[in-house]
Amino acid sequence: MPARLTFDPLPQDVAETLAVSRTRVGAFGNVRYRAEVDSTNDLAIDLAAAGAPEGTAVLAGAQRAGRGRRGRSWFSPPGAGLYLSVVVRPVGPADALPLVTLASGVAAARALHTATGLGVELKWPNDLVTGRPWRKLGGLLCEAVGGGATVDAIVVGIGVNLRPAAYPPEIADRATSIEDELGRPVDRALVVCEMLASLADVTARLWRRERRWICDEWRRLGRAGLGGAAIRWTEQGVARRGVARDIDDEGGLMVDAEGRAHRLVGGEVFWERLSRE
Ligand code: BTN
Repeated sequence: MPARLTFDPLPQDVAETLAVSRTRVGAFGNVRYRAEVDSTNDLAIDLAAAGAPEGTAVLAGAQRAGRGRRGRSWFSPPGAGLYLSVVVRPVGPADALPLVTLASGVAAARALHTATGLGVELKWPNDLVTGRPWRKLGGLLCEAVGGGATVDAIVVGIGVNLRPAAYPPEIADRATSIEDELGRPVDRALVVCEMLASLADVTARLWRRERRWICDEWRRLGRAGLGGAAIRWTEQGVARRGVARDIDDEGGLMVDAEGRAHRLVGGEVFWERLSRE
């Protein structure tokens, strides 16, 4: 096995909590641990490329080069966050792929609420947020594995701020952690296991094409940013303003602006009233 794919023993609390959650996490209990890593997504991509089955997960205590969306770095200091990447393997036609990020967000928000009691919301397309104005608790970075016309696997990377940390100045005023919000400690091992169990559940729903359940859950968890919330975004270099109406069944954001309907499929969206961006 390449040196890059060697691992450390699982922390005891995670191993013990996983052992009692075996039936719920199923194949998603195959967790590899590294105390420190560049990026859990990179290791999970290597494992997926080497044939690792769905549910193979990489958990780290810290990341030296954690990655966020749009080429950003993800602040990943030791012991302060959940740094987890999970291999999923699409079943059937490619129609489910555009929903992987939204489905994984649903899984993550539900798991965090179950494990900690904190109300976690979703902000399209990939943010885990809480409070008013919104502060960012975490995010998802889903990356496809495999060349050519087919996607063999997708790595679902999840980063969550669990404990207070000295955030870099550029994110300090809009980042928060679960412990900052709750004012009490959270059990990281429980968060890991709930996250895996929830991903196992929602991923199975996605491959069964339970599109309605996934989108309705996303709407419930992301409702503050839908139904007429004012947003701005950039389209081909042009700054635009409008209101977010809904998501569609392919996970696009439906927006009204300048008298017509737009469908956003990626890129960056800023919410005017609810967030601090
Ligand atoms: C974002 O909000 O931009 C997405 C952040 C995703 C961070 C997670 S932490 C685990 C995994 N490994 C990475 O390098 N990134 C993701």
